[in-house]
Amino acid sequence: MDNRLKEINLRLSEYSIGNFDNNIKISPKLDEVDAISSGINMLGEELKSITISRDYFNNIFNSVSDMVFILNPRGIITDANKSAKEQLRYDHDSLIGKKINELINDPPSFFTNMVGQLKKNGPYTKSESMIYSRKKEAIPVKIGVSYLTNEKKDNPILLTASDITFQINTENLIIRAIIDTQEKERQRLAKDFHDSLIQQLSAIKFYISSTSYLSRSQKLKTILNNSNEALSEVINEMRNTCFNLMPKTLHEFGLVKAVREFCNHSIYHRKTNFIIEQSNKLPEFSSEIKIDLYRVIQEFINNAINHGEASEIKISFYFNKKILKVKLLDNGKGFESKQIGKGMGLQNVKSRVKSHNGTLDIISNIGKGTCYKIGIPLNL
Ligand SMILES: Nc1ncnc2c1ncn2[C@@H]1O[C@H](COP(=O)(O)OP(=O)(O)O)[C@@H](O)[C@H]1O
Ligand SMILES: [Mg+2]
Repeated sequence: MDNRLKEINLRLSEYSIGNFDNNIKISPKLDEVDAISSGINMLGEELKSITISRDYFNNIFNSVSDMVFILNPRGIITDANKSAKEQLRYDHDSLIGKKINELINDPPSFFTNMVGQLKKNGPYTKSESMIYSRKKEAIPVKIGVSYLTNEKKDNPILLTASDITFQINTENLIIRAIIDTQEKERQRLAKDFHDSLIQQLSAIKFYISSTSYLSRSQKLKTILNNSNEALSEVINEMRNTCFNLMPKTLHEFGLVKAVREFCNHSIYHRKTNFIIEQSNKLPEFSSEIKIDLYRVIQEFINNAINHGEASEIKISFYFNKKILKVKLLDNGKGFESKQIGKGMGLQNVKSRVKSHNGTLDIISNIGKGTCYKIGIPLNL
């Protein structure tokens, strides 16, 4: 065989194992064999640059700490990087071929929404969701999605997910610190009012009663008795304020009793029918959770009555699968979801629930009442 043909053979077999460093020498003949040789040299250059880009991509793909998935247009995982396999505790074969919806399904239409957004707006990031590991542990993640290439048809999708557990924990710690400071201050105020002001006012009330009793002037008696009545009202008001600032029942007898007391006490009591249900025995939980749920329920009742003009409010507690669930339901006017961001009340409700890694669903329909569903995981 012509030596040049042998060399072509040799080069092609080197290409097949990824070696593109040597070129075929072109002879002075410049005949057909040389033309083929020069074509093969060009192919070598091309393959070399493709291999470099592929290695470049693979190195980035496997060295980033974010989880990276390649999906086909039907949402099936065709590749996943080292971080994804490690963080989700899957081996390669059990992750490839899975639907991304099996890992991320919040909301269940996650993949369809994502593709819709990509088609409409180009690169798209869904701020936060949960991704589930092989052992069904939920990891909070920030998700980024884009097409892998500029192809129009059957373009694979690149999905990155970065674990934001640490960020969320830090945010929760900050929210907790703010809420705890507020609650401590309320507790201090309630204690001060109760232990000093109310005691002192009660003492004054006693002096006025005694003076009235001893007085011979009817006119003076009337004035003193009127003062005493006014003072009783002030004392009552102050007791209510103390109760709203920090109900003692909450710490002494627990959340459900404190809520019952609030509903009986509440100025709305006469206009609104309260139904309070507890399906099963609730376990003990932290005083932070007690206070937060109590404040959330107070806010709901205020909203249901002031905005919804509800005539019936139902509050149910139950405990299931380590989650404390509270369902708040009113038969009021309902509202549109765009109202949610407008007030401080619901923002505070969200922060309080979030600070315990809880879930909050607000369902409301005009004319059909409002429901807040709260779930707080208890680390028992
Ligand atoms: N239970 C409810 N019934 C009717 N409307 C509600 C209810 N809860 C919330 N809303 C609506 O959501 C808005 C935001 O509530 P919120 O954040 O508590 O703010 P605020 O009470 O200060 O207006 C309210 O202004 C109201 O329009
Ligand atoms: Mg409100």
